[in-house]
Amino acid sequence: MELILEDVSKNYGQTRALDKFSYVFKCGIYGILGANGAGKSTLFNLLTDNIKRQEGRIMLGGRDILDMGRDYRRLIGYMPQQQGFYDKMSAVSYLKYVAYLKGMKKKASKEQIEKLLELVHLSQYKYKRVGGFSGGMKQRLYIAATLLDDPDILFLDEPTAGLDPKERVDFRTFLSDLSKDKIILVATHVVSDVENIADEVIVMKNGHIIKSGSPDVLKEDTATASLEEAYMVLTA
Ligand SMILES: Nc1ncnc2c1ncn2[C@@H]1O[C@H](COP(=O)(O)OP(=O)(O)O)[C@@H](O)[C@H]1O
Ligand SMILES: [Mg+2]
Repeated sequence: MELILEDVSKNYGQTRALDKFSYVFKCGIYGILGANGAGKSTLFNLLTDNIKRQEGRIMLGGRDILDMGRDYRRLIGYMPQQQGFYDKMSAVSYLKYVAYLKGMKKKASKEQIEKLLELVHLSQYKYKRVGGFSGGMKQRLYIAATLLDDPDILFLDEPTAGLDPKERVDFRTFLSDLSKDKIILVATHVVSDVENIADEVIVMKNGHIIKSGSPDVLKEDTATASLEEAYMVLTA
């Protein structure tokens, strides 16, 4: 499975939010690093067909995702940066609702929901109202919703926002334990989120890729000892 971007660009008026972004994503975890405004969310919105690109191609298995339409959307799971919860719903009814939106069969969704609630350690809260959840619990519920229907490709936009330090560590472990035959993109401005789990890191600035490669390569090329330092050098 290869998700290929060729010269993908997006303008908002005079703002060049994404500028000829090209990359080949294979199975693995990709950390998309960049300061606020670098273009990470724009990239994800294009990859999920939420906004229209002005230029370029996004291909999966040789077909443009726009031509694949529903076939493509069935393969992806997207956790947007901004989320609105239905605070009055319970965790389980929220997941049922998302499963319904994804067009899942009732029986299959029921089984998966139980498994996913366990995976994100929310089983004991499944009938509790989401409105009373902590930030970390909400985030874990979002992850569960994103994983419904077992997508092959995951787009997680700032997934650790609002998590405390321990929850961040748990989240990293959780991500690295996910199946290895998925393409997983994690956008973040927090280097430590992806430091030890990313197979490849893409450093972005002003809609461009300024550097990409394995964390080791980035450290070597910048003669630094940590990804954090490498990132500082690259974005200086
Ligand atoms: N809907 C929008 N309308 C106008 N400008 C936007 C919009 N969304 C993003 N931008 C601009 O595009 C650039 C990239 O933003 P974004 O993709 O949100 O970056 P990031 O997710 O890395 O913080 C920024 O300059 C931002 O202000
Ligand atoms: Mg963003």
